[in-house]
Order: sequence, then C-alpha cells, then structure tokens
Amino acid sequence: MGMIDAAEPAVADAAEPAVADAAEPAVAGTVEPAEAEAVLVSASGLHKSYGDHHAVRGIDIRIRRGEAFGLLGPNGAGKTSTMRMLACVSPRSGGELSVLGLDPDLAGPQIRARLGVVAQQDNLDTELNVNQNLLVYGRYFGLSRGHLREKSVQLLEFAQLSDRGDSRVDALSGGMRRRLTIARSLVNDPEILLLDEPTTALDPQARQVVWERLSALKRQGVTLIITTHYMDEAEQLCDRLAVMDQGRIVAEGTPAELIERYSSREVLELRFPAGDTAQADAVAGLGDRTEVLADRVLLFTHDAEAALNAVRARGIRPESSLMRRSTLEDVYLRITGRELVD
Ligand SMILES: Nc1ncnc2c1ncn2[C@@H]1O[C@H](COP(=O)(O)OP(=O)(O)OP(=O)(O)O)[C@@H](O)[C@H]1O
Ligand SMILES: [Mg+2]
Repeated sequence: MGMIDAAEPAVADAAEPAVADAAEPAVAGTVEPAEAEAVLVSASGLHKSYGDHHAVRGIDIRIRRGEAFGLLGPNGAGKTSTMRMLACVSPRSGGELSVLGLDPDLAGPQIRARLGVVAQQDNLDTELNVNQNLLVYGRYFGLSRGHLREKSVQLLEFAQLSDRGDSRVDALSGGMRRRLTIARSLVNDPEILLLDEPTTALDPQARQVVWERLSALKRQGVTLIITTHYMDEAEQLCDRLAVMDQGRIVAEGTPAELIERYSSREVLELRFPAGDTAQADAVAGLGDRTEVLADRVLLFTHDAEAALNAVRARGIRPESSLMRRSTLEDVYLRITGRELVD
C-alpha cells in the first residue's frame, strides 16, 4: 500500500490515515443501527478494475463483529485489491460496500480512523527509528504525544521489540519489520484489523508469535480480516474463510465445512520413484478421487488404511506412503486446481 498507484488518484495512502474531518458533510449510506452493530463489513457485487483488467469481479462478503475472516487464493486472485477496498484506500469500481455501517466513498476518513491496516508490502518510514514510526503514525490520528508515549511502550512490548525502540527501521530484520508494522496498525485501537499476508517471509517461530498476538486481539473483540497463503494460519486464526480465484469467491465456509464439502475424511499420500508414471496411474480408482502431483499421488478416501491395503493387493509398491486426515490444503488444491506456491 505504500506504493504509488497511478491508477487510483485522490485516495489517501494507508501510511497517512486521515482522521475524521469535522468539516465533512453528514454521512450518507448508513445502515440500520442493529445491523451496523453486528455486521461490520458488507459487500455485494463488489468490483474492481484497473483499466480494462477486472481484478475483482463482483463478490459478496459479510463480516460480523468479533469474527476472524480469511481470504485465500492464488497469486493474482484479487485478495489485495479486495483488502484495499475494504480498507478504504482504493475506491470500488462497482457494487455496494459498507464498512462499519458507512460508505467508503462518502466517509473514508471516518472509517479509516477506526481501522488498522497491515499492507502486503511493509511501508514503514525507513528514515525514522522504531519509536518515531509509532509516534508519527499515531499523530496522523490526532492522538496526543503523551498518550502515544505510553501506547508505544505497550505496542513495542506486544511486538517483542521493546529493546529496539531506538533502532533504525532499515537495521531491523524482515520479521521485526513485520511485527513493527502490526504494532503500528494498532496505534489507534482499531475495531477492525486488516492484515494482508501478515506472516509471509517470517520464520516459524516469528509466525507463532504473530499468531499468538492476533489470537489475543481476537479475544479482546477486534474483528480480523486476513489474507494468507498458509493453510495452517487460516485454520488456526480464521472462523470463516472465502477462497478467491480470478476475481471471484469460489468457496466459502468455516474450515471444517470446507473440508467436509470439498475433501474426504482421510488422505493417502503415495510416493513413487521419479518417472514411474505407470504405478501412479495404476492407483487411480482406489480412492473416491485421485490427485497426481509433481512428487506424489493423493488418494482421497474415507478410510486411508483400507486404501493402502487395496494398493498393496494390486501389487503396487510405492516408495513411501503416508496416511493422514484431510486439511485445508487439500480443499485449496481441489478448488483452485493448484498447490500453493508462494
Ligand atoms: N494497481 C494495479 N494496476 C493494475 N493492475 C493491478 C493493480 N493491482 C493489482 N492488479 C492486477 O489485479 C490482479 C489481482 O491482483 P491482487 O494484487 O489483488 O492479487 P492477490 O490475490 O493479492 O495476489 P498475491 O497473492 O500475489 O498477493 C492481478 O492480475 C494484478 O496484476
Ligand atoms: Mg496480494
């Protein structure tokens, strides 16, 4: 989001969230109070095009207060384009959108003052140190220096960066920068936190730290909207998921519902010697469905052990075999027809 986007004039960059402007006219496009309380984001037929390229092709989304909602999908699916519209930093090209009961076209600054945004690309100010990044960002929201001094101590603790307050941003590791960006997004105590691939490029331990922190925010009632390429992240954090592909939502549900709908209970993974396609072909039909991947064959079945016995009974000898339960990864593969490559 820190990138200059020539195609989108007249929109504040997320790095400079304008605060509510008292001179702004009364806000139109509000929804019923009871509805607004429960549903924080409501989109219908939401569309985004860049010139003649349609990045988001009419999607419907409803996110309720306190929910953690995940957007999955391959590169170019339209996740970031969607997130930028929800974050009110990129105007929609068509359809209806309401965030916190308000229309982003009419009330962008008021909405942004109540959102936290972690863009896909870190957009920290590299000329400032860690503390200054928090303070300057908080000043955009009109928060007092005294409040921000206290707040930044808490946020640095939250991000496990307490000893790095005076460090220059360009001296931080990628993981530390990501944690600082997340900390910064919380400076205004947002009601909705939008995170575009929060843990991409983090090491496993740093990802765990971020997950634990996001879970804590969720327990405090913050509504989370997350895009991710990690199915374990989606499974851990998200109550509900939407899978996007080529600008459309192609599946939606809780992780358990998606597994139930798009996969089998169990999966048998078989590896064959490189180049041995005959054996791989021979197992087709032994499960409810077969996927042949570059390095293994997946048999989808309600009973992996019975499937393995059937494989052996046919005299097929895989190099190795693994029985496991279905995961979101299998769902993703089924829906998008590809494995996740980041
Ligand atoms: N500012 C822009 N101008 C022109 N085309 C754009 C712009 N931003 C995105 N696109 C195009 O819109 C499509 C969707 O891009 P988007 O960044 O929303 O995908 P994504 O799902 O976030 O992908 P990734 O997983 O790689 O982050 C892509 O084809 C992309 O090239
Ligand atoms: Mg993206």
